[in-house]
Amino acid sequence: MPSTLIVNARLVNEGREYDGDLRIEDGRIAQIGTGLSGRDGESVIDARGRRLLPGMIDDQVHFREPGLEYKADMATESAAAVAGGLTTFMDMPNTSPPTLDAAALEDKYRRAAGRARANYGFYLGASNDNLAAIQSLDPRTAPGVKVFMGASTGNMLVDDPVTLDAIFRDVPTPIITHCEDTPMIDAELAVYKAKYGDDIPAQFHPDIRSRQACKKSTELAISLARKHNTRLHVLHISTADELALFQAGPIEGKRITAETCIHFLRFDRDDYAKLGHLIKCNPAIKDPADREALIRAVAEDVIDVLATDHAPHTLEEKARPYTSAPSGLPLVQFALNAALELVHEGRLSTAQVVDKFAHAPAKLFDVEQRGFLREGYFADLVLIDDLPYTVQREDVLSKCGWSPFEGRTFHSRIASTWVNGVLAWDGTSLVGSPNGQRLAFAR
Ligand code: DOR
Repeated sequence: MPSTLIVNARLVNEGREYDGDLRIEDGRIAQIGTGLSGRDGESVIDARGRRLLPGMIDDQVHFREPGLEYKADMATESAAAVAGGLTTFMDMPNTSPPTLDAAALEDKYRRAAGRARANYGFYLGASNDNLAAIQSLDPRTAPGVKVFMGASTGNMLVDDPVTLDAIFRDVPTPIITHCEDTPMIDAELAVYKAKYGDDIPAQFHPDIRSRQACKKSTELAISLARKHNTRLHVLHISTADELALFQAGPIEGKRITAETCIHFLRFDRDDYAKLGHLIKCNPAIKDPADREALIRAVAEDVIDVLATDHAPHTLEEKARPYTSAPSGLPLVQFALNAALELVHEGRLSTAQVVDKFAHAPAKLFDVEQRGFLREGYFADLVLIDDLPYTVQREDVLSKCGWSPFEGRTFHSRIASTWVNGVLAWDGTSLVGSPNGQRLAFAR
């Protein structure tokens, strides 16, 4: 494999931003330094004025395979991911069939091999009756076990209290949870249905899937984790109310961590008027004050991880009335651009984006040799150019063919993405053949 030398870049890594050079050799970061000069046969890239980051690690995506390939598949969505500077994804179990045992997990790894452009890991899902599969899970085969403590797309609600307690007691990996209290949501839904029928205006989604429902369920997850000393990661925090349940500080040593998603930082209740069901997701995008509090919580290390919850649905599905329009939005392709807007706005530093979107998921899930600019680590890299970019539908690589960011202009764009040392995206096009690898977990 020919080596590549990137010179004069602005490297952002482990809290520092500095000018330097980085050599890629045999798929790895071979050398980081200054004043490095090209060798015979080596391609040299002058990256002056550009930021060089470790590729982002998205710990929450729905790539829909198997069974829902009409919405998305591993090839299309991983293409969108690398175009967006995301070099690793961890995929959710609410597929068809759901990923409820080791055989279903291995089936997903087989499907990804040779087709995924980014590196991949797959969660085992929990149900009311697969406790034995969770207990016998080899922790090196999955980043974690996903528990839907609130019903969402796919029918994977775990609401049997005895089972839930046993899962928290016995799980051999981190537990990741979707926290929304389903009985509270059902009660609110009934009120709105009585008034509007199936055509409930989208703006009421955050009232139906309420802040109280989020908080109640998150409190339950935390109390179970405290009882059993479980390594708990609560996904997609969407309210200011839940933030007091988490501790500020570095991720090291925390047994309970929190994730938020890019859409909660970039949209709020005022956006339903224009975007309607395109931004309908679970949990719901809530108020401007929640969005502000969540951005602060990321900056202050109350929130540990930034992810996408990339959840594509077709435009035809999104055009249905409220009660049958599915929840979720496609995000991987523009999530990093959107996160870097927070840097442009002075709310976060680039180093904080890198921390939340690359270092933290690598640490949390014990990902081997990825997520950092370190010699010897896999060369998963992204180069950022500070040139404006306006999102257009024809640029969307996700199979669903739309983006909630259409028409938005970002101040930076993804100039190049390398996966395992090989160029995967050159700023305008996908390059080469799929080169993603199965993640290894150092456990
Ligand atoms: O909005 C969502 N969409 N939330 C989820 O929990 C599931 C996801 C999906 O799979 O569509």
